[in-house]
Amino acid sequence: MAVSPARAAAFEILQRVEREQSYAGDLLHSARFNKLSSADHALATELVMGVLRWRSWLDHRVAEVSSQGLERLDEEVLGALRLGIYQLKFLSRVPARAAIFESVELVKAARKRSAASFVNAVLRKMAGASATASAEPAADIFAEIEKSFGAGALARNSAHPDWLVTRWVERYGIETTRQICLADQHPAATCIRVYDRQGLDEVTREGIKLGPSRLLSAAKIVVAGDVTRTQAYQQGRVAIQDAGSQLVALLAGQGKTILDCCAAPGGKTALLARRNPNALVVASELHPHRARLLRDLVLLPNVRIVAGDARQFPFSRGFDRILADVPCSGTGTLARNPEIKWRLGIEDLDDLQARQIGILKSALGQLAAGGRLVYSTCSMEREENEAAVEAVLDELPEFSIVDCRRELEQLQQEGELSVDGIEALLDGPYLRTIPGIHACDGFFAAIIQRK
Ligand SMILES: C[S@@+](CC[C@H](N)C(=O)[O-])C[C@H]1O[C@@H](n2cnc3c(N)ncnc32)[C@H](O)[C@@H]1O
Repeated sequence: MAVSPARAAAFEILQRVEREQSYAGDLLHSARFNKLSSADHALATELVMGVLRWRSWLDHRVAEVSSQGLERLDEEVLGALRLGIYQLKFLSRVPARAAIFESVELVKAARKRSAASFVNAVLRKMAGASATASAEPAADIFAEIEKSFGAGALARNSAHPDWLVTRWVERYGIETTRQICLADQHPAATCIRVYDRQGLDEVTREGIKLGPSRLLSAAKIVVAGDVTRTQAYQQGRVAIQDAGSQLVALLAGQGKTILDCCAAPGGKTALLARRNPNALVVASELHPHRARLLRDLVLLPNVRIVAGDARQFPFSRGFDRILADVPCSGTGTLARNPEIKWRLGIEDLDDLQARQIGILKSALGQLAAGGRLVYSTCSMEREENEAAVEAVLDELPEFSIVDCRRELEQLQQEGELSVDGIEALLDGPYLRTIPGIHACDGFFAAIIQRK
């Protein structure tokens, strides 16, 4: 019997994520996998994201029941075991025999026939152990996270790297870190920005169930339905964008000439351009393929797209608003991009910071007198946030920080913010959102002005 399309797709995607450093979300939305039926695509997504989210936890289970060390297992064998254990432990609707059988077939199809009986034996042992556990899938795993009191136990039980959880506990405290880890271990909500009332009516008429965002009034949470199939989405009147990302673009405010330095895929560019219909928005992007993506996705008359390096701008004009949404580690988006947990090392933060400082310095050079720049990341790490901003401003005394409080108060008066208090969104003069605490991904933003 053939392997089901959803499991075959999940297995292939997981192998490619490991080997090619690809992003699972990009692969799932690529032409190859978009051909799957809706039900198969949904199951493949659940399997891929689930395995990536729980990878270290799954590996511990393999190590406990297998006679062989993990390092001696072929990638395909380990991949099939992770998929099998994930289904046994986290998916109540998949019968154990189907999970075991399909993982065995996957290793056979991957020409690792000799490992088939090993995979079968490991998964049968796991299935036996799981049968005695709680009826609610994974309830015992989440209970362990709730009672993990040290950074090490929390990292282990919530499938996060130890170094990352240790630094979060130092920075944010154990309880906030627990909320971050819990948020990372659940699928992130799909959030949309609604650009006009008609778009909202159309989406709901087409059967999409929406709930309110706890952060922004023009943001909605998709409760049920595929918003990408609606006309309003295809015409750009509704966009999929996390509420934190929307808030960062709103912070940039209004102007006549706007530069978006690191723009692809263009969620913030579109928001800037729609909020400033009479402004010229120049969107720059380093990678030509991502600049092409930006061209395909942002079809607004006041946007000009430029492929180039933000560290060497060719412009001679001053912009009155600039957004520098720099490349970063992405540790505020682990629920959406769980593979980051297994790729990022503490040593990467210095390189990222050097790149971020280079872009910020160059972007500040494009700011007109009296203009404002928003520097932002979706990182939870100090090096990429306050430390990068402060290192640049130490060298450039003609620029200063503007307290985000003022801009947030303004957004509150305009009815954009739907939170009661803005205090919780502030960390000194900076914007700081935290997964599990705020209703969005983890974002940092600083507003800088030319004195
Ligand atoms: C955080 S993402 C931007 C997300 C985007 N602002 C949005 O909201 O859709 C950072 C982007 O910067 C691009 N990038 C990286 N280095 C760059 C550079 N030196 N100059 C311009 N763009 C750069 C990356 O390719 C990536 O597309």
